Amino acid sequence: MKLGLLRDKCRKKPMEGVKVNLARTTRRFSAHTIDEYEYIELPRSFEMNAGCARVSAQHTKFPEGFIFGVATAAHQIEGAWNVSGKGENVWDRFTHTQPEMVADLTNGDVAVDSYNRYLEDVEALEYLGVDFYRLSLSWARILPNGRIDEINPDGLRYYHALLDALAEKNIKPLVTLFHWDLPQKLQDLGGWANPELVDYFYDYSDLCFREFGDKIKSWITFNEPYEICEDAYGDILKAPGLNSHGVGNYLCSNTLLKAHAEAYHLYDQIYRPKQGGNIMISINSIWYEPSDPNNEEQVTLAETANQFKFGWFAHPIFTEEGGYPAQMVENVARQSEMEGLARSRLQQFNDYWIQRIKGTSDYLGINHYTTFLVTGPGVDPTAKSPSWLKDIGAVTTMEVGGDSASTWLRVYPSGFANLLRWCKRNYNDPIIFITENGFSDRGTLEDYGRISYYNDYLSEILNVIYNDDVNVIGYTAWTLMDNFEWRAGFSERFGFYYVNITDPNLPRTPKLSVEYFKQLIANRELPQDDRFKEPSLKAREDLHVDFDRVLNELSKPNARELARLGNHACPLRTLKFRSVNFGPFSLPLPQDASIRFNLGPGSQLQILSVTFERLRGAIFRSAATYLPLFKHIRQ
Ligand code: BGC
Repeated sequence: MKLGLLRDKCRKKPMEGVKVNLARTTRRFSAHTIDEYEYIELPRSFEMNAGCARVSAQHTKFPEGFIFGVATAAHQIEGAWNVSGKGENVWDRFTHTQPEMVADLTNGDVAVDSYNRYLEDVEALEYLGVDFYRLSLSWARILPNGRIDEINPDGLRYYHALLDALAEKNIKPLVTLFHWDLPQKLQDLGGWANPELVDYFYDYSDLCFREFGDKIKSWITFNEPYEICEDAYGDILKAPGLNSHGVGNYLCSNTLLKAHAEAYHLYDQIYRPKQGGNIMISINSIWYEPSDPNNEEQVTLAETANQFKFGWFAHPIFTEEGGYPAQMVENVARQSEMEGLARSRLQQFNDYWIQRIKGTSDYLGINHYTTFLVTGPGVDPTAKSPSWLKDIGAVTTMEVGGDSASTWLRVYPSGFANLLRWCKRNYNDPIIFITENGFSDRGTLEDYGRISYYNDYLSEILNVIYNDDVNVIGYTAWTLMDNFEWRAGFSERFGFYYVNITDPNLPRTPKLSVEYFKQLIANRELPQDDRFKEPSLKAREDLHVDFDRVLNELSKPNARELARLGNHACPLRTLKFRSVNFGPFSLPLPQDASIRFNLGPGSQLQILSVTFERLRGAIFRSAATYLPLFKHIRQ
C-alpha cells in the first residue's frame, strides 16, 4: 500500500489533490481535509504496513561531485597503547586509573587493534567503495611526550604505511590532527587550559604537515571542540574529566581556538602553496529546538542554546563579526556577576585574536547526531553550578525522536535539516562538509535501525541541498567498525562492521548496513530496496492499518497537542486511541490502551508500543510484537 500525502511544510507547498492509496480505497485529500490535518506533517509518500509507515525519500540522487567516506579515531581503534615508543595519552591514564568510568570496563589498550590490522581495515574500506577515509593521528604515538624534541620513528612509519595502503586503493585520507587523545605529559602541564598549548599544537601540526603533507590533502585540526572543552574540562564525561565546570571549559576554548587558528595559518601560508590541500575544523552539534514552536520564549532560548553549543566555536571562525557569540558573552558575564565574581568566567577575545581566528576554515565541518528540545527558561536540572549549561539559562529535554543505544542520541532527522539551514543563514552560506553522522545499537548484524537512520538523515541532507540550496559537499558516516566508544566502551556500537571483542582475533563481520552504504556509494543514490527495510516494515498481505481511522483519531486530541506534533515533525507522543483497525483483525482497543508512535517527515510513522493500563509496564516495541497481543485480546 502506498500513501502519498499532505503538505511539504519546508517548501510550503499545499498538499491539495495528493493521491492517497489505502489498502482498498483510494482517497483524494481536498483543501478542506488539508486544513483539518494542517499540523500533521507527512510530506512524502510512504508505505504503510502492519502498523508502521515508512517515509520514502523525496529526493534520492546525490549531486555530481558529492563524496562519501567513513570515519574513525586513533584511540578508538588502534590499540597498541604502549608499543614501539608510543607515549601515554589522557585516555590511557583515565581508563587505567579509573576503569570504572567506562561502562563495560574496557579500554583502548587493544581497542580493535587497528595498529596491527590496518590492512584488513583498508580492505573493508575498499569493499565499501568509499571516496575517502577520515582517520586521526595519535599525537602521543608521534610525539610521546607531546613535544617536538622527541619524535617516535615508529609512529611516523605506522602512519606512512597506512597512508600508502590507502593510496594503493585510491582512497583519499581526510586526517584529524586532534581527536581527544592529548599526550598525558601535556595534560600534566594543564592541557588545553594552558595557553602554551597553542605552541605545542603548532609544533605538532608543523611536523605532521611536513611529514605527511604530500600524502594528505585534507586536514581537520580539531574534532569536536565542544566535547573537548565542556565534556573533558567542564565535566567528567571525557578524559581527563577535570570537572572544572564553568571555568576550565572556557579556558580550554580560548586556547583551542587560538591553536586551531595558528595551525590553519601555518598550513595556509607555508604548506598550502606547496601541497595544495585544504584544512577545516569539525564542530559537533546538538541541535536545539523549542518544544513548542509557537512559544516565543522557547524559540529565543533555543537560539541561545544553539549559540552556546554550535556558535561557541563556529561564531569566532565563520562569522563576519568574529569572536564568541554576543549572547554567550553576555549570559556568562551576567551569571558571573550574580556569583559575585570580579570578572566574567568567559572573556571575549581581543581584537588581534578576533581577526586572527576569523575565516580559518576552508569548510564548515559538521558532526551531527541528534536534537534536544528546549522547554523553558531556568536552570537545567542536570546543570552544575557554575557551568556552561547553567549559563545558557534554559531547561532542555531529550524527550524527542526515536531511540538508539546511547541515551544522548535521539533519532530526529528533521533536526539535521534545521541545523543545516541555520548554518547557511548564520555563517554566510558556507561550504559544509559532514564529518560525522551515525547511529548506535547494541551490535546486531541486521542493523535496520542504522540503515533507517542513515537513510532518513541523508534524505534530509538531500532536501536541504535541493530545496534550500545549502552547500553540502561531502558526507562521513561514523564509523567503519565497532570501536572503543569512550566512556561507553563497547556497549554502544556505531560500526558498519561488527567486532567480536571476546575473540582474540577481533574478527570484523559486515552488518547489513555495509551493503546499504556500499550500494549508496556505488549509485550515488539512496537505496530503495526492500531488503534494507525492517521485516516488520515490509509489505504484508494479511495485515494493514486502517490509516483513515488513525488520522481521524489523531485529529481529535486538542489542537495544541496537534500543533506540537506537526511542528516537531517527529516527536514521540502517547495518544489515546479508542480503536485501531488492523485489517482482518479490526479490533477496538480497550479504553485503557494507549499507543506511542513516531510521526513526521524524514522518519517514520511507526507505532512503537501499545500500552495497557491493566498490564502497566508492558511495552511492546514493534508491530511484530504487539500484533499477537491483539489476537490475544480478541479472544
Ligand atoms: C565522536 C566520536 C564518537 C561518536 C559517537 C563523536 O562525538 O567524534 O569519537 O565515537 O561521536 O559517540
